[in-house]
Amino acid sequence: MRCRRCGDTAAINMRQHRLALCTVHFPEWFLEQTQRIIHKYRMFTPDERVLVAVSGGKDSLALWDVLLRLGYRADGVYIDLGIDHGTGYSARSRDKAAAFAAQHPEAHLTIVDIPGLYGESVPQVAQRRRRPHRPCSICGLIKRHEMNRVAFEGGYAVLATGHNLDDETATLFGNVLHWQVDYLRHQFPVLPADGQGLARKVKPFCRFYERETAAYTLIQGIDYIADECPYAGGATSLAHKATLTQMEHDVPGTKMHFYTNFLKAKAAGLFAIEEAGSELHSCPQCGQPTSAAELCNFCRLWDGVSTD
Ligand code: AMP
Ligand code: FES
Ligand code: ZN
Ligand code: ZN
Repeated sequence: MRCRRCGDTAAINMRQHRLALCTVHFPEWFLEQTQRIIHKYRMFTPDERVLVAVSGGKDSLALWDVLLRLGYRADGVYIDLGIDHGTGYSARSRDKAAAFAAQHPEAHLTIVDIPGLYGESVPQVAQRRRRPHRPCSICGLIKRHEMNRVAFEGGYAVLATGHNLDDETATLFGNVLHWQVDYLRHQFPVLPADGQGLARKVKPFCRFYERETAAYTLIQGIDYIADECPYAGGATSLAHKATLTQMEHDVPGTKMHFYTNFLKAKAAGLFAIEEAGSELHSCPQCGQPTSAAELCNFCRLWDGVSTD
């Protein structure tokens, strides 16, 4: 297999694009594609400050790397959820994020220590809430809240996550299976700021297959944590990923078409009807917008927990 651009030995063959590229031209293509998606969806401009949510995994570290190489003003935020599980998962992923930041003095990394700030780790909150084996939804709530808080307090225009095509198609598949119309309405590569303290949210890697972001980190020598979250085992999103991967194997391009045709259908007006009855107000404790009766769901999580 030869590189389409120079004829050298190819490092990766992307069947769905009918494109093979070498270790020089694949990263070049990867940067061009990211730039194209940033433009296409008007995600942000070079003078806007971007906050990249970095988990220490390959996608978000690759995203931070690419945005810096493209010349964007990109800082990072790592949220330490206090997950140990006998493997030191959070501590090890934080180390990867911090090591990347140390190599990029032009960029700043904010580390949010959840147990230190709020008095409990995610597994502890989940235990107290009687969901010891399924902390994921509580964890997701905490991550979203804290990413928004740091973006708002730091004056960032936009919050970027490393979601790739495999993530987006697994989410889409789940949303379609259950016809979660509200979720489908909100699934998009860019979500506008809401004017009440929620930053614009973007997913510049939403069109890359996971193996493409993996190839990028490998070629650029980016060190990342390869483990999945220890609580992810058995999650339905992983089952959906496996199903879609089987379909992709049988028909290359399945994931890409599933996702891009969804975006086209949305552009044509599918799911465009306004939701009724989702009036938001500011949470009296943290100020973030919420549809809950009083305190937002995040603030209610910590009721009765002392940080002294
Ligand atoms: P996941 O939900 O684990 O697939 O992660 C999706 C995206 O959320 C990642 O690509 C990151 O951008 C972001 N993210 C996940 N976990 C963290 C974390 N602990 N701190 C900061 N960002 C995170
Ligand atoms: Fe939060 Fe797994 S429970 S990352
Ligand atoms: Zn080449
Ligand atoms: Zn609140």
